[in-house]
Amino acid sequence: MSKEDICAHLGDDYDRYLGAIVPPIFQNSLFTRKTVNHGYSYTRMSNPTTEIAEKKIAALEEAEEARCFSSGMAAISAALMSVMEKDCHIVCPLNVYPPTKGFLDSYMTKFGVETTFVSGEKVEEFERALRPNTKAIYLETPLSNVFTLQDLRAVAELARSKGIATIVDNTWATPLYQNPIACGIDIVVHSASKYMGGHSDILAGVMVGSKERMEQVTHRERGLFGASMDPHQAWLLIRGLRTLPVRMRRHQESALRVASFLEAHPQVERVLYPGLPSHPQYELGRRQMSGYSGLLSFVPGGSREQIAGFVKSLRLFEEGPSWGGFESLINSPGLWLDEEASRRTGIPQGLLRISIGLENPDSLLEDLDQALASMKRL
Ligand SMILES: Cc1ncc(COP(=O)(O)O)c(C=O)c1O
Repeated sequence: MSKEDICAHLGDDYDRYLGAIVPPIFQNSLFTRKTVNHGYSYTRMSNPTTEIAEKKIAALEEAEEARCFSSGMAAISAALMSVMEKDCHIVCPLNVYPPTKGFLDSYMTKFGVETTFVSGEKVEEFERALRPNTKAIYLETPLSNVFTLQDLRAVAELARSKGIATIVDNTWATPLYQNPIACGIDIVVHSASKYMGGHSDILAGVMVGSKERMEQVTHRERGLFGASMDPHQAWLLIRGLRTLPVRMRRHQESALRVASFLEAHPQVERVLYPGLPSHPQYELGRRQMSGYSGLLSFVPGGSREQIAGFVKSLRLFEEGPSWGGFESLINSPGLWLDEEASRRTGIPQGLLRISIGLENPDSLLEDLDQALASMKRL
């Protein structure tokens, strides 16, 4: 089944729901069993509306099963908890989504968990970091601020040979453009609050993997911590998934235009986007991704004050930290970093991150152009 058809129809089960082309929202916590046992009992464990989203996402990811969570962080922490043991060791890229890093290096330390952070660009870094008690290699590729990649197949092969679990945050590429399970990765997690939801109106998370792992996660991490998805959230997620393929095509086309425009602009020092042939890992990206999404970073030339002025003078880009919605956004992860903080975090000084939305791409280019022109006048 094609990915478009999965998004449009898979799991909708028209016969079961009276031919409803849009599935009903089972907005209930409890399923009674006095007369018929349908296999449902309590929405924290399973819900028919949530299951439709899970079927679609598992199929898109070429995985056996999926489980929805109340947010991306709920899925990420549950995935990590499912493979960690007390006093174990994890290897992870330094520039993962900051709360993921915080979960590992400030929260899990109270259970004796240690994490080694690497840049992640070379498989040898992961190999060197392994210890006898390493339980998982956690990846996020591309990293959603510096846009370097990790080699999914090479890391999966290394981890498998040592009996270590692998988890990948696949939010940036979406299951349309990257399928880590097919590369040998064990667990994929997503913040579905981004492209899958697509409208900046839900918080949602998903985990995918083997049937056995997902059944365990249902009873352990989802059942015990309780960060299940609400059925209404699942319904909005299904609605978002319907249009994911058309939206992603547009995000990709516009982002490629914006990245090329910025790269050619004399006021811009660097553009970080895996879709540009000048990206140092462009070939790796082509081997493991079939497309690119709409989030990228760049470093304008100029003082901090000039860069801050550039951000303020944008008219169409709103300022905010999230991404993956219909709206174009800018935020400034590197703007106020001094040299030491930039070295420690691996984030270039002056780095700005933009999420390219669904507005007219000509309007976005015009807006960036006028804001870059205003920098020269400061
Ligand atoms: C790459 C990445 N992973 C995970 C998350 C966490 O997702 P959520 O906000 O849905 O908890 C985010 C959120 O910004 C993210 O950017």
